[in-house]
Amino acid sequence: MSAIPPRKRVGVLISGRGSNMVSLAEAAQAPGYPAQIALVISNIPDVVGLDRARGFGIATATVDHRPFGRDREAFERAVDEVLRVNQIDLLVLAGFMRILTPWFVARWEGRMINIHPSLLPLFKGTHTHRQALEAGVAEHGCSVHFVVPELDAGPVILQAKVPVLPGDDEETLAKRVLVEEHKLYPAALAEVASGRAKLEGGAVIRG
Ligand code: GAR
Repeated sequence: MSAIPPRKRVGVLISGRGSNMVSLAEAAQAPGYPAQIALVISNIPDVVGLDRARGFGIATATVDHRPFGRDREAFERAVDEVLRVNQIDLLVLAGFMRILTPWFVARWEGRMINIHPSLLPLFKGTHTHRQALEAGVAEHGCSVHFVVPELDAGPVILQAKVPVLPGDDEETLAKRVLVEEHKLYPAALAEVASGRAKLEGGAVIRG
């Protein structure tokens, strides 16, 4: 009989409503899911995502970025300390709207993933649904990728596509993409937490 590997302890960083975090917390309730959501941290106090996390019995913390001013690394050191105390193995960015320094990215290299609402490498940054509509693409979607120092440029683990329909506006398109995000992120986290997808030499290696 082979021993069941311990579930990875996952920390989720949020800045707002936390709907992707909820999809991960729900997925992690399934027996056999290779990760547990051990901690949710927000950089903005009192966001609804923190309440939602507590509803699942998940430990929460707020590390407000504002007292740190322009010193991004000092903010990140505070976040990192909370992650260390909580023995976090893997870090998941879920609507976390802060740009990370090379120091923090290096510290979590291969152990930090992000979801981005576009088919990367298309439409990096913000307002991705507007960018997609303005570009007139027929397909749009979302990507989960390992985080590297360059914004939204890390190797992609999984992607999901949606059609862009006649009459779509940012809101209708965002809703259609979000439905896919909520399926894609739990699937991608399972790949990473189980070791089936790894970052090696700047690429995703599948085992
Ligand atoms: C999601 O659509 C996520 O892909 C996006 O923010 C939203 C957060 O929603 N992330 C980014 O744009 C990161 N560049 P949520 O708080 O309900 O998960």
